[in-house]
Amino acid sequence: MQIEIKQGNIIAAEADLVIVNLFEGVTMPGGATGAVDKALNGQISQLIALGDCSGELGKTTLVYTLGKMPAPRVLVVGLGRAEDFDGKNARWAAAKAVDAAQKAGAKQVATIVHGAGIGGMDPIEAAHALVEASLLESYAMPAQRSRGHVQSQVEALTVVEFNAEAIPLLETGAQMGRIIAESAIFSRDLAATPSNIATPSYVAAKAREMAEETGLDIHIMEWGEMEELGMNILLAVAKGSDEPPKFIILEHNQERADELPTIVLVGKGVTFDTGGYSLKRGDGMWKMKFDMSGAANVLGILRAAALLDIPLHVVGLTPMVENMINGHAQKPGDVYRGMTGKTMEVISTDAEGRMILADALAYAGRYDADAVIDQATLTGAISVALGQQAAGLFTEDEALKARLLAAAQVTGERLWPMPMFDEYKTAIESDFADVKNSTAPDRMAGVSTSAKFLQHFIEDYPWAHLDIAGMSWTKKPRPMYPAGAAAFGVRLLVQMLRDWER
Ligand code: BES
Ligand code: MN
Ligand code: ZN
Repeated sequence: MQIEIKQGNIIAAEADLVIVNLFEGVTMPGGATGAVDKALNGQISQLIALGDCSGELGKTTLVYTLGKMPAPRVLVVGLGRAEDFDGKNARWAAAKAVDAAQKAGAKQVATIVHGAGIGGMDPIEAAHALVEASLLESYAMPAQRSRGHVQSQVEALTVVEFNAEAIPLLETGAQMGRIIAESAIFSRDLAATPSNIATPSYVAAKAREMAEETGLDIHIMEWGEMEELGMNILLAVAKGSDEPPKFIILEHNQERADELPTIVLVGKGVTFDTGGYSLKRGDGMWKMKFDMSGAANVLGILRAAALLDIPLHVVGLTPMVENMINGHAQKPGDVYRGMTGKTMEVISTDAEGRMILADALAYAGRYDADAVIDQATLTGAISVALGQQAAGLFTEDEALKARLLAAAQVTGERLWPMPMFDEYKTAIESDFADVKNSTAPDRMAGVSTSAKFLQHFIEDYPWAHLDIAGMSWTKKPRPMYPAGAAAFGVRLLVQMLRDWER
């Protein structure tokens, strides 16, 4: 999708469809919507009076201009109640409008910026929200793109603004929105790529290519280096596959590490999860190509941090493995000692995510981090608890929790705090090691015991864990999230990084 910012009057826009907006409860539209209403002899205000155009958030009304404007169609999108308006609603409305435009078959679309006028939103943030949401809404996965399995797509989006002084601000916001959306799309494409292609080596090569383009520092640890560090818990998972593991380390502002706050992001990178000898059932196993969504997210976030030049030292750590079965594979009952020196007992080889994260979180202890946040498609239990409405947030650090929840409110990627009571620790006590990786056959509080396992391996830093298993693959499409790879969490963490020093 081409995006252009133009000074002018939306009434005169040459397009297949023009998007304007309306707050709930407004009976006489003002601003750009008012101007369009006037050009259409009051058609919009009539529809409002009839109750056919209510301004309800995300609701769209299509109006035909019948020669009164150069564009044949006008789409009015509802912004909800003015007092509730925020970044989340701005994105929601923009995505709904693009979806409706695509369904109407429009290719050339002109739009005003939602919320920058009476919405009272900062013009930079408003343009950012508009562009980000529009790009994410029109996303299609690589295989869909190459097979032509996509609905009609908007080819060009022209953002029309009357006030010439606002143009440079809108340009800045649009650029930010584009960087962030394209970073999320980078993550989505990786997660959607089948695991016969997206092996640990492939992901490492993609990360290297991306680092070269963006100026990030990159180091990829091979088996030998991980072994020297004592990452035997991670390697226990890796050794069951013929694909060599890779531990990707990306750094933004490495040279200023001493003067800037350090944030370390860790992502689970299981390029395919068969379950290992604790084999998964066949139905639905194909989806386990997405089990590297946490890692894909981290790569996308680092890309955005570099391109946005965020003034923080940001480190991305993604342990990449394939959870398979061969003659060397780990077995239930095995005991491994990891990088921290602590040991763990394998109860289920299908609880592999927490194993690779144990050594990655140990490695994170090498940075003098102000925060370490991991993202992982860690448990099926989180989707049982929260469905596709929120990711689970596990932390005992109130300040970090507040930062994450504030960012979630802006981007609309909902997080829900889950408990980490001390008592859950007793469930993962082992007779043979410091801790065990599963409570099977007991399934009580499966999400919280997984978080307690991770906590056992963290070092002395503020830490939060996001279980994104329920959110990383969209089943039922919703605004900005077409079915498939979601990259849920990328925008959220970029937002948190941008807000860090505010
Ligand atoms: N990758 C899965 C988690 C998962 C399951 C994500 C279903 C999305 C949908 C993870 O490695 C796993 O297998 N977890 C087990 C843990 C159990 C063995 C303690 C699970 O959730 O069943
Ligand atoms: Mn598993
Ligand atoms: Zn897994």
